[in-house]
Amino acid sequence: MLTDTLPSVSRLSETGPVAGSSADDLVRLERATGELDPPFALVDLEAFRSNERDIVRRAAGKPIRLASKSVRCRALQQRVLATDGWRGTLAFTLPEALWLASCGFENLVVAYPTVDRAALRALARMETHSITIMIDSVQQLDLIDEIVGRRSTPLRVSLDIDAGWWSLAGRVRIGAKRSPVHSPFEAASLATEVVQRDGWELVGLMAYEAQIAGVGDAPPGRPVRGLALRAIQRLSARELAQRRAEIVGAVQAIASLEFVNGGGTGSIESTTNEAAVTEVTAGSGLYGPTLFDSYRSFEPHPAAMFALPVVRKPGHGVATVLGGGYLASGAGDRTRLPAPHLPAGLRLDRQEGAGEVQTPVLGGPADDLRIGDRVYFRHAKAGELCERFDSLHLIDGDRVVEEVPTYRGEGRCFL
Ligand SMILES: Cc1ncc(COP(=O)(O)O)c(C=O)c1O
Repeated sequence: MLTDTLPSVSRLSETGPVAGSSADDLVRLERATGELDPPFALVDLEAFRSNERDIVRRAAGKPIRLASKSVRCRALQQRVLATDGWRGTLAFTLPEALWLASCGFENLVVAYPTVDRAALRALARMETHSITIMIDSVQQLDLIDEIVGRRSTPLRVSLDIDAGWWSLAGRVRIGAKRSPVHSPFEAASLATEVVQRDGWELVGLMAYEAQIAGVGDAPPGRPVRGLALRAIQRLSARELAQRRAEIVGAVQAIASLEFVNGGGTGSIESTTNEAAVTEVTAGSGLYGPTLFDSYRSFEPHPAAMFALPVVRKPGHGVATVLGGGYLASGAGDRTRLPAPHLPAGLRLDRQEGAGEVQTPVLGGPADDLRIGDRVYFRHAKAGELCERFDSLHLIDGDRVVEEVPTYRGEGRCFL
């Protein structure tokens, strides 16, 4: 079971111990949040800060761009960006980037192509140099030119490059289905197309190696799959380092680039190692959701959680909490379910999973739960949790020190 493999929160990291045993943690969280009525979401600041420091350590001096989709809380994003090592935001939509810019955020790169007409027109009117949009095809350039027409300030643009690993002459392709631009030649052709057009300024390159950064290399209970994954990730990292450097060289000959972005929480070490990459992206590792429990090179501390109330006791070894069906996006398998975290030793029911209105939790500790008690869960992914809650309660030690709005709590829903 997924829950059987959850690490205890008492482990040590290179950045020092976080909290005590899971029993101590439960007492601490209960003390801090006793006055709150669940459901509510929280961020344990000690774990969050420790995760933040560990990301900076792993980046070994390379600037880190914050993946805002993985945080979705302006106050926390501001705090992280004020910390040494972090520089700029990787936004997930143009409307989000426009909003963040209006709130004073600078150096925003929109990571995914946009066809939002109103947002593009607003961007063209802004005469700003703080937002860069992403393209990977001439059709996107054509469409955007058609939407915004002539402009006095060029649109800043970055090319999205496919970081997937191809073998058997491209018949087997491993990686996210993102950009069609794979080779140095294709990248140089698109770069040429951009610089030959009026109204565009080519400022960056991005290549996100999802097959390394987003896939844990030690899947619990699947040692053979782990071996295969590690072999593929090694080959892919080697191939990408060479190809990315060639692409950067080819594009730099056409335009002077301000940044070359790559990586994510799961690939910081290998991405950082590449001289051609000027900055690495990270976000999920701050909250430490369950999908990031299965990497060998780092161990984020569970920092973001949500608490649900026990509302009934259907029988021996089971307690039922209200709500809980906060599934993560991606392939629809069990790894996308939230996981009961505290009290330790609870697990989901295989038949019911996490339900829209109620979720049974099973295991010995369920017998000790009384109606009105809370169960603390972890989400499988990071920022998606914030789409379910208006605010995050920030906990320092055994106190709630602040309540900060999520994007949703600010009335912002971008995706
Ligand atoms: C373009 C891009 N870069 C980086 C990341 C990594 O973000 P995180 O560190 O939150 O996993 C993602 C995640 O999906 C992404 O889409």
